[in-house]
Amino acid sequence: MLKAAGREMTRMETGAAEKIRIIETPEGTFTLRLVLDDLGGIYPGMIRYTVEVIRGTVTVYTYAINTYESARQDTLFDTRKAAEVVFTRLAHDVAARPHRYTRPKVFTRPLPDTGVVDVVILQGSPRRFGNSAKVASWCDDEAARAGLTSRIFYLQEMDIRPCVGCYVCYNQGYCPIDDDMPSIIGALPGASVVVVCTPVYTGTVPATLKAVIDRCQWLHARENVLGKEVHARGLLVAVAGQQGTRPFVCVTGVVGMFMENLGILPAAPVLIGGLDRARDVEKMDGVEDDVRAALRALFAPQNEG
Ligand SMILES: Cc1cc2nc3c(=O)[nH]c(=O)nc-3n(C[C@H](O)[C@H](O)[C@H](O)COP(=O)(O)O)c2cc1C
Repeated sequence: MLKAAGREMTRMETGAAEKIRIIETPEGTFTLRLVLDDLGGIYPGMIRYTVEVIRGTVTVYTYAINTYESARQDTLFDTRKAAEVVFTRLAHDVAARPHRYTRPKVFTRPLPDTGVVDVVILQGSPRRFGNSAKVASWCDDEAARAGLTSRIFYLQEMDIRPCVGCYVCYNQGYCPIDDDMPSIIGALPGASVVVVCTPVYTGTVPATLKAVIDRCQWLHARENVLGKEVHARGLLVAVAGQQGTRPFVCVTGVVGMFMENLGILPAAPVLIGGLDRARDVEKMDGVEDDVRAALRALFAPQNEG
C-alpha cells in the first residue's frame, strides 16, 4: 500500500509519520515524511515538525520547524501549516526535478575540531590585562600544575553575536548565526571543569559574556536533540568594585542558571569585592590562594555517590 505512487497516507495508517508520500521518478523511489516530535519535555508545548526527503534508504534533505520559532500559532506562521506547505512544495519539486535530490544536502554546521581540553575558562572582562584576566591566568596555570590541559576564551576578542531567539537550534542541534561561537560550543562538552571569570558590570555580567551564556542555549538544544551532554564541574570567580555581597547577587544568579541549564555542577563561587579601592587583584592578600584552592578542589576525583 505504501508503494502507491503519489498517494498520501495519514499517521493512523503508518503509525510513525504524520504524512507519507511515495514518489516514483526516473531517479528512483522517493519517500517524503512529515514527522511530529513532541518536545514538551524540553519546553511546555514545544512541537517540532520535520519533513524528510528519502531516496531509497538515504535521507537527502531535511527541513524542520518548531512551535517556539514564532509566538503566533494562529497566523501565516502556524508551524504545522508551514511544515505542510513545505511538504507539498517538496513533493512537487521532487517529482518535477528528482535529479536535484540524488545526493544528501546537509545543512548542519560542523563544530571546529580544536581538540578537547580538560579545563575551559571563559574570561568575560573586556580588559585584556584586568583583574578577571589575571584570575583566568591563575586558573590556567593551576590546571597546568595539575597536569591538565586548559584554554582561556577571551570573549571580548571573539566575534560573538547575541542570540536572536529563533529557536532553530531545537530543530537539528545547530545555531544558524555565523560567528566564533562554535569553538566554545565545541569545547564545553569535552571539559571536566568550566570556569567563568567575570567582573560585575552594572550588577550583572558584561554584555559579551551574557551573549555567550544566551548562545549556549544551542548546547542545551544539542543535549536535548542530539544527546551531547556536558559533564563538568563549574566555578565562578567574580570581581567587583564595591565591597560586600550586594554586587554579586545577579552575577551568581545568571552564571548559576547558565551552569544549571547545561548540567554543569557548580562549586561555591569565589567573589572578590572592593576592587575600586584595591584596584589590582594581585595585591589583595590571600585572593590568589583562594582562587587556586577552589579550582584545585574541582580537580580532585569526585565522590559520585
Ligand atoms: C561598565 C562598568 C560597570 C560596573 N558596574 C559595577 C557594579 O555594578 N558593581 C560593582 O561593584 N562594580 C562595578 N564595576 C567595577 C568593576 O566590577 C571592577 O572595576 C572590576 O575590578 C573590573 O574587573 P576587570 O579588571 O576584570 O575588568 C563596573 C565597571 C564598569 C567598567
